[in-house]
Amino acid sequence: MNTLKHLAIIMDGNGRWAKQKGKMRSQGHKQGIHTVRNITTWCAKNHISYLSLYAFSTENWNRPKNEIDFLMKLLKQYLQKERKTYLDNDIKFLAIGNIEAFSNPLKQMIQNLQEDTAKNSALTQILALNYGAKDEIARACKKIIQNDNHDKNINMNELIAANLDTKGIPDVDLLIRTGGEMRLSNFLLWQISYAELFFTPTLWPDFTPDELSNIIKDFKTRSRTFGSL
Ligand code: FPP
Repeated sequence: MNTLKHLAIIMDGNGRWAKQKGKMRSQGHKQGIHTVRNITTWCAKNHISYLSLYAFSTENWNRPKNEIDFLMKLLKQYLQKERKTYLDNDIKFLAIGNIEAFSNPLKQMIQNLQEDTAKNSALTQILALNYGAKDEIARACKKIIQNDNHDKNINMNELIAANLDTKGIPDVDLLIRTGGEMRLSNFLLWQISYAELFFTPTLWPDFTPDELSNIIKDFKTRSRTFGSL
């Protein structure tokens, strides 16, 4: 049986969920927050150590300004309102991505929640914000070049991994994408090298712990050889 330490999810389908119900796209994102809470607390109670969620990509800035403004407002509300969820459920919060691009108040809120939950240990929830895997790898390479005092015999794989935003976090075991699209969308490309992939047509607001539990059952029985026999 495979063990699941690190689960990653591409949360897709909020817009379509809203459209199907004759609502504004923003209502889909709002509903998506409930799913984030349900899935995160379920993972904390079910001994998953790391949960990575793709909340805002480096490419999402290309969306209409009103949607970006709404997502930023929702993110601020989320960081404030969900503080209790993190504390009550022993969940550590960690943001990955190029956070520098955010406004000072938002950066401060992210930092505060990271500090307030730093000692929690049931689950680390990793929220990808202004995240792109190519951007993350490029930033890691820049850090390595700027810090040019490495031992020349150093293991390059380890050096790159140690300069990624996910430093110290094990690679992804299982990646799920909701919403029916079959692509990776620049999410954790380094860390998913040997992840098992699962695509479900369920739209993110409709995704439940029950469906997640069934996907994990399937994952546990898959043969993972990591390139060997
Ligand atoms: C994809 O839906 C989802 C996103 C762009 C971001 C995910 C955001 C949330 C779950 C809500 C905000 C979360 C936090 C933690 C603040 P889509 O708009 O691409 O859906 P579509 O493909 O149906 O249009």
